[in-house]
Formats: sequence, structure tokens, C-alpha cells
Amino acid sequence: MDDKHKGSPATDMTRRQFVRTAAAAAGAGLMMPSIASSYAATSSIDELAVAIIGPGSQGRNLLTKILKIPGIRFVAVCDVWPYHQKYAANILKKYDQIVNVYADYREMLAAEHYLDAVIIATPDWVHADQTVACLEAGIDVYCEKEMSNTLEGARRMVLAARRSGRLLQIGHQRRSNPRYAQAMRLIHSDKLLGRITHCNGQWNRAHMLERGWPKGKDLDAETLKRHGYESMDAFRNWRWYRRYSGGPMADLGSHQIDVFNWFLETEPRSVMASGGLDYYTAQKGRDWYDNVMSIYEYATPSGPVRVFYQVLNTTSHGGFYETFMGDQGSLVISEDPRKGFVFREAHAVRKEWEDEAAKIETMDAEAMVLKVGETLNPGGGTTEGERLDVQVNKPVHQLHLENFFDAMRYGSPLTCPPDVAYATAVSVLAANRAVDTGQKIRLSPDLFRV
Ligand SMILES: NC(=O)c1ccc[n+]([C@@H]2O[C@H](COP(=O)([O-])OP(=O)(O)OC[C@H]3O[C@@H](n4cnc5c(N)ncnc54)[C@H](O)[C@@H]3O)[C@@H](O)[C@H]2O)c1
Repeated sequence: MDDKHKGSPATDMTRRQFVRTAAAAAGAGLMMPSIASSYAATSSIDELAVAIIGPGSQGRNLLTKILKIPGIRFVAVCDVWPYHQKYAANILKKYDQIVNVYADYREMLAAEHYLDAVIIATPDWVHADQTVACLEAGIDVYCEKEMSNTLEGARRMVLAARRSGRLLQIGHQRRSNPRYAQAMRLIHSDKLLGRITHCNGQWNRAHMLERGWPKGKDLDAETLKRHGYESMDAFRNWRWYRRYSGGPMADLGSHQIDVFNWFLETEPRSVMASGGLDYYTAQKGRDWYDNVMSIYEYATPSGPVRVFYQVLNTTSHGGFYETFMGDQGSLVISEDPRKGFVFREAHAVRKEWEDEAAKIETMDAEAMVLKVGETLNPGGGTTEGERLDVQVNKPVHQLHLENFFDAMRYGSPLTCPPDVAYATAVSVLAANRAVDTGQKIRLSPDLFRV
């Protein structure tokens, strides 16, 4: 807890308790209106008070998903760009959520004493400072991936969460996706694939358009400099600069390397990779690789597994998915719900439930569509499956946010706590190092722990 919060009413009891007490006291005329903040006076006692830092493209995606979750009230918006401040505040106004607006997260934390949670969706390079400050102010945090573009930053976030005892959820939302949980069950409980020996995955994205900005909405050079950006191009296209981002491996690859670590139940032992800034060239001082092809080696309890993973920014061919290949079958899964297949090797024992499974012809083989519930009820009844199907119909980011708010409310476990995301960050940033050095990077198990 930093000094500025010491002795504030919120430190003597939890924020939510204070809000409840303040609301009750204000209602009974026992407390000065200045102490019972406008939030405390207008909120329901079951509401969580939330702020968002960085309501840009992904921030607004999260914001609109949060608006679908009952019992959450936005009280503040923070963004260095007035254009995005107003944009977000106007969306919230339509939902009768009137917010205070800030340009600097430190000012917001000094002024907003009743925050239960902060959502952080700023560029990766500021995640660590902002997350640590919120945690130290006693606030739970949902921070977007990549945790940080440096391991030092990611490490500080893990330590701050541990020290403060507050919740920190990192935005690898596949961890809260029931389709992925179902695939985990098929692999580990049903042993559907037998022994997994190889995996591959990709995120192929079409040539990316430049991110521009509306006429007259430029930040002036001094404001940009104060916030660490050299130009409007760097501010808008931060993904392509090493200073602000971990490059495409972090931007896209981190979701999928996280899945490999999760499904293989361990972290890689090494990575080698080739990549370059081949297509985009170093225009405007941008310095991240636009393509990376990597090979990770894992040592699982059942034996070695090699994973080929690529991220390309010049072609969308094949889109994005992860494939797990075993001696009895293979499974393809993606956040794209159209991609979820199980293939059985011809010699593998036929499962009872296959008759009920929907089949399609794909990739020159007969495949079963990976539908939640298929193996849960081999008799064909899909009660459990239907229940899960309803959850799947929610947007994927909403499921992950719900996991976070449930953890706050009911103490249920987070699906992507900081230690898990740290191990992913180590795995991902190592691939960049492999490209930088042209060397195979060896990763000892202790490197993944803080
Ligand atoms: N989980 C996912 O599926 C997913 C998808 C896309 C992006 N992301 C992550 O979300 C984050 C944001 O990505 P984006 O595409 O929305 O970027 P963006 O540039 O559209 O948005 C970033 C926002 O942060 C603001 N900002 C920049 N520096 C700031 C600072 N110091 N303090 C306060 N505000 C600041 C910008 O004005 C902007 O509004 C990144 O970490 C990215 O990796 C996650």
C-alpha cells in the first residue's frame, strides 16, 4: 500500500465494505456528501466499481463485454488520448454510467478511492507500471496480454500480485473458454489422442493496414513525448516497435504458445526460430519482425514433443489454430469456433460415442466436429453439453472477464493468474531471442518461476 492511500477510509476496511457503509451512512444523513462519493451514493451495494485504463480497440471490446455482466459499474476512464477518453465515456453514458475522466493513471488512483477493479488495455510496455500501481493501491486488476514486453516487467507484476494479495488476471482468454476445457478433457481424461508427439500452430494474418487517426485528433509533440511516444505513428502502430511491444510473437503467438504450455502441462525446454522484418521493411523506424517460424521442444512425462509454430503478417492463409497430434489421433482447435475437429487414426480403437458425433469431410479425411459434451454423455443425451454450449455462445472475452469478476466475488480460482502468464511470457520472448541471436535457446525449468 503506498503512502497516499494510508489512512484513507478504504484502508481500514475493504473498499466494498466502505462503499456499503458510506452508502448506508449517506442515506441516513450521517456522512458528508463529499466523503460519500458520488459513486457511493448512487451505487447498489452489490456493484463492483471499475475503471479502465486504455480504452482503445481492445479496451472498448472489453468494456462492451463488461456492460453485459450484471453488477459492474464503471466509475472512471483513463487514457492519454482525449479522443479515446471521450469515445469511451460516451459509450458508457448511453448505459447511464457517468465516469470521471483522467489522462494519467496516477492521478486516477489518487482521486478514485472506491475502485474494486481496474481493466488495463494499454500497449504492453506500460502494463507493468500501471498494474503494479493498481495492485499496490489494493485494487484487483485484469490486464491484457502480453503481460509485458520485458521479463523484468512481467516479473514485477507477479511479485506485486503476491505482495499485495490482490487478484491479477492476464488476458489469455482461451483459458476461460469451455471449448478449450473440453479439448483438455478429451486429451487428458479420455486419452483420445494417445501419446502426443507433435503439435503445430499458426496465426497467419493478412497484410496489416496502417493504423491512422482522425484529422485534427493528433496529440501534440510535447504530450506524445511526455507519455513516451516519439510520434503519432509510434503511438498508433506501437505493435511494430520493440520499445512498446514484444512483436507478433507476443501479440498473436502468446495466446497460442500459452495453449501449448497449458495442454502439454509443462513449459518448453528449448526454442529455435527464424524470422525477419522482410516485407514491411524498417519503415518509420519500426523494428519488429513481421514473420517468425519457430520450433519449441517440450519434455512431457509421456516423452518428447516438438511444436512448430509460425506467425505471418502477409497472408491469412489457414487463419489461426493449434493442432495436437498423437499416435491414436489428432485434435485441431482454435478460438475461431468453426475450427474444432478430432481425427482418429485408422488403427485406433473406435469410441462408443462416435456414432452420435457429427462428422464432416475435411482435409481428405473423415473428422468428428469437436462439440462440447460429445464425450460427456456417450448415450447421446447432451444435457451437460447443452449447458456448456450456452456458455460457449458468450463472447470469448466475456467468459474470461466473468472468471475474473467471479474470483473477486466468490473467491473462485482465476484461470490465468500471473504465474501462469509469466511462464508464457518467458516462452514467447525466448523465440524472439532465438531469432535475434540465430541460436537455439535452452530454457531450464527454474527460468519459468518467479
Ligand atoms: N486478448 C486479446 O484477444 C487482445 C486482442 C487485441 C489486443 N490485446 C491487447 O490489448 C492491449 C491494447 O491493444 P489495442 O489493440 O487495443 O491498442 P490500441 O492502441 O488500440 O489501444 C491502446 C490504448 O491505450 C492508450 N494509451 C497508450 N499509452 C497509454 C498510457 N501510458 N496511459 C493510458 N493510456 C494509454 C491509447 O490512447 C489507446 O487508447 C495490448 O496489450 C494488446 O496486446 C489483446
